[in-house]
Amino acid sequence: MVITGGVEKAMGDYTNMSAYYDLIMTSGYYDYKKIVENIVRDNSFGSVLEVGCGTGLILEELGQHHPSTEIMGVDLTESMLSIASERLQKFPNISLSLQNITQFDLKKTYDLAFSYGGVWYFVIDGDNEPFLVSHLYDEEDNHRGLARLADHVNSGGKLLLGIQGPHHDYEKPVSNGMIYSQKIEPAQHGFTKHYYLADDAEVVMSQTINYRTYSWDQARELLGAYGFHHEGDVGQFSHFISFRKA
Ligand SMILES: C[S@@+](CC[C@H](N)C(=O)[O-])C[C@H]1O[C@@H](n2cnc3c(N)ncnc32)[C@H](O)[C@@H]1O
Repeated sequence: MVITGGVEKAMGDYTNMSAYYDLIMTSGYYDYKKIVENIVRDNSFGSVLEVGCGTGLILEELGQHHPSTEIMGVDLTESMLSIASERLQKFPNISLSLQNITQFDLKKTYDLAFSYGGVWYFVIDGDNEPFLVSHLYDEEDNHRGLARLADHVNSGGKLLLGIQGPHHDYEKPVSNGMIYSQKIEPAQHGFTKHYYLADDAEVVMSQTINYRTYSWDQARELLGAYGFHHEGDVGQFSHFISFRKA
């Protein structure tokens, strides 16, 4: 599979984790079958775009459900997309593009765009309102990214942003016996998350990402400024919050 595009290394880069990403995620971190069931059950679409598609674990499931739908994945980390490219070879309807969301341009629009743990997602902590988490720590980058995204979603189309549980410090074994751990620190505009994987005493992977956060009201205002308006009850979707593009 050919990966189009090119990009400079930027914040939000997953190069350090890429070789271990699938191992960590498929050891119970995300439930990819359920994620895709939620996308296909509640939505009809002829074309779909994932922003922050990583190694293509969601796209692979989606390709199995939708073998003839036009599917595009965008990501800024070359080593993540290389793994996706291998994984998705058998799906001629899936394309990949190496681009930063703040600048991306596919010269196309899509019926549905989504991000699950990708560039943007929501966290719901108990009965509290959801808050938005962004891999883009800089405020201006969030505006640039959403402006670019808005240019790629059809009027009347949808944006689905994934829902995750609250972040906390923990460690647990993954399927090959290595120990995954994460540590969260508050930051001025959000939080910093440190990811580690250790084989006995040796740390084989470490990665740090700075996340910006927005309250529910701030998130709706930010997304609304780019034509994405919240629809339906949050509780209606177990894995995503849905926004309709004006
Ligand atoms: C936690 S991974 C999620 C991958 C995939 N959605 C999944 O569920 O397995 C986050 C991905 O977002 C990508 N990402 C972060 N910031 C980005 C940006 N500014 N533009 C494009 N991709 C970005 C990273 O490279 C990484 O692959």
